[in-house]
Amino acid sequence: MTHVVTEACIKCKFTDCVDVCPVDAFREGPNMLVIDPQECIDCTLCIPECPVDAIVREEDLPESQREYLELNAQLALQWPVITEVKASLPDAEQWAEAAQKRHLLETDPDQKGA
Ligand code: F3S
Repeated sequence: MTHVVTEACIKCKFTDCVDVCPVDAFREGPNMLVIDPQECIDCTLCIPECPVDAIVREEDLPESQREYLELNAQLALQWPVITEVKASLPDAEQWAEAAQKRHLLETDPDQKGA
């Protein structure tokens, strides 16, 4: 089992979650974080830290967010570790309200988040 970062994180990237992770399981992409399932110990500490409720236990994933289980695993292999909180992306507050953001996910680690 693992925890999964879901669609709500895209274009927000508040990073509050990173601060509480005891095993440094978060990986940083241009406009989203993911959790490395090989590192996650299911401690649940990150769940309440996310202002947009983007982090879900694998067993609680709704059908609409199931693809993020595989996406977290795949992208965690490509993206660097993040262990410190940083400023959220520009307009994160506005994007926090958006429901459909999957098409905006940037996967190339060399891209700049926007
Ligand atoms: Fe994303 Fe929430 Fe963390 S927006 S970076 S999962 S605090």
